[in-house]
Amino acid sequence: MKSWIFGLSLLTLISESHMATLYTRNNCPFTVWPGTLTGAGIPQLSNTGFELAPQAWNAITVIAPWSGRLWARTQCSTSSGLFTCATANCGSGQVACNGVGAVPPATLVEFTLAPNGGQDFYDISLVDGFNLPISVTPQSGSGPNCTITSCSANVNAICPPELIVKASCGNAIACKSACLAFNQPKYCCSGEYNSPQKCEPTNYSMVFKNQCPQAYSYAYDDKTSIFTCSGAPNYLITFCP
Ligand SMILES: *[C@@H]1O[C@H](CO)[C@@H](O)[C@H](O)[C@H]1NC(C)=O
Ligand SMILES: *[C@@H]1O[C@H](CO)[C@@H](O)[C@H](O)[C@H]1NC(C)=O
Repeated sequence: MKSWIFGLSLLTLISESHMATLYTRNNCPFTVWPGTLTGAGIPQLSNTGFELAPQAWNAITVIAPWSGRLWARTQCSTSSGLFTCATANCGSGQVACNGVGAVPPATLVEFTLAPNGGQDFYDISLVDGFNLPISVTPQSGSGPNCTITSCSANVNAICPPELIVKASCGNAIACKSACLAFNQPKYCCSGEYNSPQKCEPTNYSMVFKNQCPQAYSYAYDDKTSIFTCSGAPNYLITFCP
């Protein structure tokens, strides 16, 4: 009897979950190494890091409910057996990130995927800075905000000098957020600035917002940056859209 009940609840669990596929495509003229990080309390995806040559694509199956993030590392190499990247490194020492997140600055894609045709949330975040352009395209799905969200500008090219991250050759490869660069409450929406009413856009967050109006430019930038779809079976994440 007990096992029958267990079997039934397992069946319910399976039928209430929902599979989504996250496709990644590299439209950049250089190789990138995407990484994934699942939010607290659920196991990591089967694929937490991989290489994508220019024009290559990949598919990751996700069982909803799921929430997590995805990014792309650049200028990676292996030395003394340790895999490291110039931007968005996850510090695992391997191509797989194995549950370690990106070292900022990194352009992040964030997902909260609901089971059974429920409402998914997704966004592009520059709250931790920027390393490369990304777009997210839902494939079918419904709702007024079920649309592509894109940060296609190269923010590195206009990054204020006090935020810039340069490669050893001197090229700008990433742009820090002001929170990361200065660690001040008004930029980080922390301390006395810890609410949407108190934390407002700053001259630095506006630099990011002007380049990528659909992306989060600071922690409480929700109104113009959260996208939602119900019942979308797939999402396409494009690097350098
Ligand atoms: C932002 O404002 C501060 C002073 O409040 C100034 O020092 C800084 O240069 C400004 N930065 C940009 C990018 O406008
Ligand atoms: C979501 O849809 C509403 C109503 O159509 C619109 O006012 C709002 O700007 C949209 N949000 C985003 C992030 O596009």
